[in-house]
Amino acid sequence: MHPIETRTDSSTERKIAVITGASRGLGKNMALHLAERGVDIVGTYREAEAEAEDVVAAVAARGGRATMVRLDLATFADIEAFAANLPAMLQATFGRVTFDYLVNNAGHGNYTMIAETTEADFDRLYAVHLKAPYFLTQKVLSTIVDGGRILNISSGLTRFSTPGSSAYAMMKGGVEVFTRYLARELGPRGISANTIAPGAIETDFGGGRVRRIVAAMTAQGRAGLPDDVGSAVAALLSDGGWITGQRIEVSGGMQV
Ligand SMILES: NC(=O)c1ccc[n+]([C@@H]2O[C@H](COP(=O)([O-])OP(=O)(O)OC[C@H]3O[C@@H](n4cnc5c(N)ncnc54)[C@H](OP(=O)(O)O)[C@@H]3O)[C@@H](O)[C@H]2O)c1
Repeated sequence: MHPIETRTDSSTERKIAVITGASRGLGKNMALHLAERGVDIVGTYREAEAEAEDVVAAVAARGGRATMVRLDLATFADIEAFAANLPAMLQATFGRVTFDYLVNNAGHGNYTMIAETTEADFDRLYAVHLKAPYFLTQKVLSTIVDGGRILNISSGLTRFSTPGSSAYAMMKGGVEVFTRYLARELGPRGISANTIAPGAIETDFGGGRVRRIVAAMTAQGRAGLPDDVGSAVAALLSDGGWITGQRIEVSGGMQV
């Protein structure tokens, strides 16, 4: 792992968010909205190193600090190494060994009908979308502060069904169950856990497929934009401490 860092001055005042998949799309947008609220960022990326460097610069332009770390969530050893190195990374970059907010965001699309879904498709979705959030969260439990907040990113597809998303939506459904158990087990530490379930949002996700989803499916008549999700995530993390164990859909009223 080779962190891309900005400043190394320390502060105990500012909150720190760990966001997986912060190099592009929704994770990047969350990082920028949180930076505008004075939250520093540990982001992860898998391949998009140049985009990760852009996020560091964009956070700095908003007066914040960011470090971006390469992490492939499909590789269990990467998750273990990231979690083991996190306290030292936090100390080196921010001058403290703990962080405040965890956002399990990273993921990939997979659009295949049940009849065509391969074991490899299924196993990769399981590894990235379900196993990784579970064990990354487990392995950073001693690094997140009491009173911290955890947000897991699910999908509107757990409430409504679109042919071709069965395995993906099943993993997201598992994440929503995991969130409720996190809320119960971490509640005594004052840690909240919630799910944000975006509707169709215009990112690179699935090769831009969502751009073709009919806007008429949403109450507000358009597909979502990354700002719709990033602003909701930042608001929930900054202000929503008494909200826990909830699934909050950010979809403009898709298929309501
Ligand atoms: N966009 C939508 O319409 C929509 C709707 C509902 C839910 N979601 C969920 O929102 C989350 C973010 O999606 P997005 O739209 O922002 O997608 P995106 O634009 O494709 O960005 C995906 C991000 O996740 C990272 N990533 C992908 N696979 C990874 C892996 N195996 N290990 C580590 N990082 C990985 C990517 O890193 P690199 O680019 O560096 O490789 C990138 O930063 C996902 O969990 C997705 O399921 C999206």
